[in-house]
Amino acid sequence: MAYDAIEVKPMTRRIGAEIFGVDLGQPLSNRQYEEVHQALMEHQVIFFRDQEMSHDQHKAFGRLFGKLAIHSGVPGLPEHKEVVAIHADATSKFVAGENWHSDLTADAEPPLGSVLYMKVVPESGGDTMFASMYAAYDALSPRMKTYLDGMTAVHDANHIYKALFPDVEKQYPRSSHPVIRTHPVTKRKSIFVNPSYTTHLEGVSKEEGDAILNYLYLHCMNPNFQCRFRWAPNSVAFWDNRCTWHQAIWDYFPDTRSGFRVTVAGDKPF
Ligand code: SIN
Repeated sequence: MAYDAIEVKPMTRRIGAEIFGVDLGQPLSNRQYEEVHQALMEHQVIFFRDQEMSHDQHKAFGRLFGKLAIHSGVPGLPEHKEVVAIHADATSKFVAGENWHSDLTADAEPPLGSVLYMKVVPESGGDTMFASMYAAYDALSPRMKTYLDGMTAVHDANHIYKALFPDVEKQYPRSSHPVIRTHPVTKRKSIFVNPSYTTHLEGVSKEEGDAILNYLYLHCMNPNFQCRFRWAPNSVAFWDNRCTWHQAIWDYFPDTRSGFRVTVAGDKPF
């Protein structure tokens, strides 16, 4: 599909594109919606600059792509429970998403994607890295693809959120998902394990599973599969969580970086 209603500038051939000519605070025309969706399918993470959105407008944009999910680990804003604050400053002990991950993969139905709207950025640093799990899958050897075909892995959120919030009495999600998933729209295959949530491969010994997972993580971290986004105030990133990893770089302490995220619900990986 050609783009008529928006302008799309790819950041690399594998992942990432900047989008121009759309105001996310206003209702999108059908054509704009279709092209934004198409750009997301094609580039896996898309970026917008100079956007003005209230929390309601942010939620309305997210809802164009599906139901909004309630974050299973972090409470939302009191008046907008679907909106999670992403905030770090001189008092922070950790920041959200510091390690490579896809969002909430321990959920039975991990998110379709997330829309992160950044309001305050440090003078330097604070970029977010994204990696294409399509590109990572495509670059596996045929023998490794055959080995992983049909394999499942357990994803568990308990070790993450219990370490961050030791006082909270709560069981966090734990689920089993295919190691290689097929995207429901593009039908492309991608690697669907990540170093944050995945605890082990099923059906093989711990030693074998850990060795394979460590190989996959090293493979997926290849810079050839990545793009890196430099934030400015009012920038927006929208990533397809089904086929990407991301990592927030905390290289700006003690400065402040602050924004808001909504999460679009997804479905059971297959
Ligand atoms: C996240 O993982 O949602 C946070 C990403 C970021 O702050 O750049």
